[in-house]
Amino acid sequence: MARIAVTRPIADNGLQKLRDHGHEVVVHEDWLMNEDQLKDFVQGADVILCLLTDPITDAVMEAAGPNLKLIATYNVGFDNIDLHAAKRRNLMVTSTAGFISSIAVAEHAFALMFAVARLLRPADNYMRGGQYQYWNPNIFTGQQLRGKTVGIIGTGQIGSLFATMCAEGLNMKVLYTDVVNSLPLEMTLGAEKVELNQLLEQADVVSVHVPLLPSTTGMISHDQLNRMKPTAVLINTARGPIIDEDALVHALRERKIWGAGLDVFKYEPHLANGMGELDNVVVTPHIASATEPTRINMSDNVATNILAVLEGKTPPCPVKLPAD
Ligand code: DGY
Repeated sequence: MARIAVTRPIADNGLQKLRDHGHEVVVHEDWLMNEDQLKDFVQGADVILCLLTDPITDAVMEAAGPNLKLIATYNVGFDNIDLHAAKRRNLMVTSTAGFISSIAVAEHAFALMFAVARLLRPADNYMRGGQYQYWNPNIFTGQQLRGKTVGIIGTGQIGSLFATMCAEGLNMKVLYTDVVNSLPLEMTLGAEKVELNQLLEQADVVSVHVPLLPSTTGMISHDQLNRMKPTAVLINTARGPIIDEDALVHALRERKIWGAGLDVFKYEPHLANGMGELDNVVVTPHIASATEPTRINMSDNVATNILAVLEGKTPPCPVKLPAD
């Protein structure tokens, strides 16, 4: 029987699956622990089941003790885990990079794209503020998206789904940038791989879908924002620090781009200075994957990963550990 330390409550189906296999599942209360609190909580664990808000540092792994085998995150992203330390300690790391959560995130990116392009935030405020007195053809004229160009930064599962929704639903031309070629996107959607600068200069919608890595941190800053069209919409459902949000506030305030839709933030859970006052940005509290089927699927997925590792099998979603 393994001891599985779950850092906050999640959908119960996966936890029940672990209990049904005879494991001890210890679920922490629903508040955010800091590193010291995590160190206390994980002591004696065989598995840490964590969330993206938990700093799983070398010290937390050390505190868990010699039985620790696996860090299983209930998320697609794993930038909260010190992968170098996990590798040194011979631990496995898994994520919940499943198809269902990718659908939810891609759909949320799509919702943000329309909300920004069609000015839903200021229009909603206008209604609630009682300003709507009679039909006016000259207010809230937004961007039309059909037939425009979408630029996908990162063509993993989420980026590819978002590209497909834009191409098939809106007949958009797809440009992409990635470290690898996406043959499926090229062959099915006629997508074209371009350099980041070209993508920024040509796209009407730019959507970020890369993981947070040293190489992607701050990849969209002043220079990159200055290359974008004044009518362009920028979407981020990946990780906040990929975009320099102070530079973004400046670009939005100066109307250098049309607007932005953000589900993740550089200073999460806080907005960058000045962001809250802008009407050309739509912000949501990191809920892109928040659909009921997704949460159930993520819970099942994390349990399947854990059971596989405990049974000495290859888990469905292993995280590749760094080479050094
Ligand atoms: C994840 O799972 O990493 C996402 O950011 C949640 O939306």
